[in-house]
Amino acid sequence: MKIIEVKDYQEMSQAAAEYIIKKINQSPNLTLGLATGGTPKGVYEHLIEDHKRNGTSYAHVTSFNLDEYIGLSKEDHNSYYQYMYENLFKHININPSSTNIPSGVNSDLQAECAEYERKIQQHGGIDLQLLGIGSNGHIGFNEPGTSFQSKTHVVDLAPSTREANARYFDNLEEVPTQAITMGINTIVKSKEILLLVSGKAKQDAVVKLFNGDVSESFPASILKEHQNTTVIVDEEALNGIK
Ligand code: F6R
Repeated sequence: MKIIEVKDYQEMSQAAAEYIIKKINQSPNLTLGLATGGTPKGVYEHLIEDHKRNGTSYAHVTSFNLDEYIGLSKEDHNSYYQYMYENLFKHININPSSTNIPSGVNSDLQAECAEYERKIQQHGGIDLQLLGIGSNGHIGFNEPGTSFQSKTHVVDLAPSTREANARYFDNLEEVPTQAITMGINTIVKSKEILLLVSGKAKQDAVVKLFNGDVSESFPASILKEHQNTTVIVDEEALNGIK
């Protein structure tokens, strides 16, 4: 893993956006893996600003999101579909038919998983996958204990994940208990991975990631075996190590 240390969330967001923009300029038909949550919001703001100011084009970019809550429709304001539309897609010139997010309301979820996995592979896999990390080390919604061989699948969300995400819902009970997520194997097949880590809440995760063993009990640890992973981490997240 290549580590880039930055001052704070702003610097992390800017550095990640510059990284992505450079890749798109080099390969206009890039296949991007995208994440949701608090971490990448600043990156998306920078991408939007750059698109408006410099005209970086997403016309030939394809995107695959990591995950979606089960039971939330596209219209639900807490769905990751809405998150992506509001925070990125509606502001740039990406073709809506080139954006992919698993459906959390397909009546046959196993078929949805298999089809999502097939689509990614048929597309030639992901060129650059953007990742955040859960405080328990999850990537996508692959919670501790998930097999490193996993493909897109349905998961039960850990209590700590539901609590962390309750800030977006009226109360904890409303947070879905399950999600559909790219598997760990799906993620690590990406040609390149960019992991963003910011803030105090991620300090323990950073210690385990940097100092711990590669183990299914800490999903993000697999990134240490990936050929082309860059971690952009801010000072606060690094404080547990120093
Ligand atoms: C989001 C995702 C999750 C988040 C992680 C961190 O699509 O797959 O792995 O990246 O839960 O979330 P935040 O950024 O809200 O701390």
